[in-house]
Amino acid sequence: MTREADPRESPPASQARFVNPPLKRHPTLQPLSREHHGGLVLVRRLREAAGAGDEAARLRAAGLLAAAWAAEIEAHFADEELLVGPFISDQDKARLIEEHRSLERRIAMINHEHTAPSPAWLDETADLLEQHIRWEERELFPAAERGGADCLDTLAHEAERIERDRPGARRRQNPEAN
Ligand SMILES: [Fe+2]
Ligand SMILES: [Fe+2]
Repeated sequence: MTREADPRESPPASQARFVNPPLKRHPTLQPLSREHHGGLVLVRRLREAAGAGDEAARLRAAGLLAAAWAAEIEAHFADEELLVGPFISDQDKARLIEEHRSLERRIAMINHEHTAPSPAWLDETADLLEQHIRWEERELFPAAERGGADCLDTLAHEAERIERDRPGARRRQNPEAN
């Protein structure tokens, strides 16, 4: 059986896979953790395009990022602010929102300029996205699990909605998960 990547650890993004979330993650947050794996795959693709030396590859990567934003990331950010926001410190909440807005501004740029982004822009965007995901998995989600221990169960319907609406959030067949 293949060992699954855990975004709380530090595998290179090139090894990121679509896998189930850590066993310890609260069920209400598990769909968001599953989407993080998709985010790490996107990080890898952005870096590959940055290193390809090929404008067409960079343009395709920008398209992938814009499509991921529309299909998943925008809603993922909103759901994190909804599900995690009430249970974290003001400082963490400010960081969460600032990093979301920062990534949102970057994606808005590619939606407005229909030219290939530079390799540096793709690498910077990949770095920001990866660091954001790692911070959430290692620090923010555990903090929300501690702070919302009595309340996260009551938000299970939100997790069900996310699983229903977003393919990257659905649980997969794995006897070790859930
Ligand atoms: Fe986030
Ligand atoms: Fe996230």
